[in-house]
Amino acid sequence: MDNKICFVIAMQSEAQLLINKLNLTEDNNFAPGLPMRAWFGKLNNSGIIITVNGKDNDTALDLIGTQAATLTTHLAIEYFKPNMIISAGTAGGFSHKGAQIGDVYLSFPRVVFHDHRINIPGWDNMGKGLFNCWDTREMATILNLKTGIVSTGNSLDMLPTDEEYINKLGGEVKEMEAGAVAWVAYLYKIPFFCIKAITDLVDSIHPTSEQFNQNFNLAAGTLTESSISVINFLTRK
Ligand code: ADE
Repeated sequence: MDNKICFVIAMQSEAQLLINKLNLTEDNNFAPGLPMRAWFGKLNNSGIIITVNGKDNDTALDLIGTQAATLTTHLAIEYFKPNMIISAGTAGGFSHKGAQIGDVYLSFPRVVFHDHRINIPGWDNMGKGLFNCWDTREMATILNLKTGIVSTGNSLDMLPTDEEYINKLGGEVKEMEAGAVAWVAYLYKIPFFCIKAITDLVDSIHPTSEQFNQNFNLAAGTLTESSISVINFLTRK
């Protein structure tokens, strides 16, 4: 199969609706001995792969953050050889930049890290990531989705220094995996972008964790719908 699109998703509950809607089948030979899992199927003559990081052995919690995302993406590329990588999931948005709960963003023009601060010339830019994304602008216009810079860090909260860096880097979407997925896609020269649905407004008075839990199902729904629209767009004749 020529066209293979791979969704790299952190949490099972972010992926499950999409797995169900696309009627994908788990590939039990993926990542033997590791927590990562993968499902495969076809839509419009293209292969659709969904990988998740899987659960921590000790706590049975979904593995989240950049280490797990790096390993999952590497394993997915080696095993499935996809020609498009999509980092999909939930994220925080900023009401002062126009975000609303349930909004879906496609990444453009780039993905950055806001918490890899290295104040030495050269390494400063390596720390920021600054990974270019596949051009999602036409697709976003046609599907009526937002575009923005996605900013990755390994914390759910946002310290003042993180906020300063997110603003300096132009971040509109705050999450915990995209930069890692983007880096591995970049190493393998595979086109990459993100689909992120907003569960919380980082600049609201309500704690992020509370908003995340409250709005998770809504955002998982819009994430799934938009992901299907994106697949249909990418595989149209
Ligand atoms: N995932 C969902 N909301 C988030 C936030 N505010 N920061 C990081 N990751 C998130």
